[in-house]
Amino acid sequence: MSLNTFSHSTWQTNFSNLEQQTAIEALEQGKIVCFPQLAFELLAEEQLFLQPDYLSIKTKNISFNINSDELKGVESEEVKLTHLKSLLRRYAQYTHSLINALFPEYSAELIQARTSFRPAEIAGRKTSYRKDDTRLHVDSFTATPVQGKRILRVFTNVNPNNAARVWRVGEPFAEVAQQFLPKVRLAVPGVAGILKLLRITKTLRSQYDHIMLHIHDKMKADLSYQVAAKQEKVDFWPGTTWVVFTDQVSHAAMSGQFLLEQSFYLPVEAMHDQSLSPLRVLESMLKRKLA
Ligand code: SIN
Ligand code: FE
Repeated sequence: MSLNTFSHSTWQTNFSNLEQQTAIEALEQGKIVCFPQLAFELLAEEQLFLQPDYLSIKTKNISFNINSDELKGVESEEVKLTHLKSLLRRYAQYTHSLINALFPEYSAELIQARTSFRPAEIAGRKTSYRKDDTRLHVDSFTATPVQGKRILRVFTNVNPNNAARVWRVGEPFAEVAQQFLPKVRLAVPGVAGILKLLRITKTLRSQYDHIMLHIHDKMKADLSYQVAAKQEKVDFWPGTTWVVFTDQVSHAAMSGQFLLEQSFYLPVEAMHDQSLSPLRVLESMLKRKLA
């Protein structure tokens, strides 16, 4: 089973040593740490964001940067945006305190990245295959190289109509890598510098980022793999919060609407067992440093 479940129902909570130990081991081994009773409450003035098509949405996500207080991907009246910002800021703070309480070993090195609100229904959405998150994949960002750092994400289903976020969860990372790494041609020296010069990437794309991006694309492009790969369906009902290393856990989002998400980056050195990270798995397969 790919879930490790906790019954906590408040965000500012304490965990016992045993709970912390169980959670970090489960998370690093590629399980989803799940809180089926950890709901995120919206205030009265925030409820309007749960109406389909209320916001004029250009992108699939609305994103918020808590460090710069910037909101992206949304057009609306100023006063409404103030409410949306404060919702996302609160979610950023709550998830940050949850992760700190649950994974104290990570605290010193944890980097909080963007917060997002995903108001669009996933099922039936038309996109290119690379952007199609209904296909099993591990996360990797085109423009934002991580240089080996982990991508840790917290999600909360805030759907008001009792609709689950339905995921497929695939095979362990080592098996994904065995299948797809042999099909990846390594990056040619010099190309990373050009990509950065052309501003296709914000920082240098490491060999690790190159490989992860290609594994991501090759997984999504392989339709027989999508069907044949070992996988299970998981329903995340409204009021559920889950935590997962999305660079490691093969996942696909099949249906659902209204999701909150918070991303964090974590240097592999901060892990309890870094040999489980995609970086170290790939490095030991290729017998060379990748970031
Ligand atoms: C994804 O990270 O692939 C999408 C997750 C979701 O929106 O449920
Ligand atoms: Fe993803």
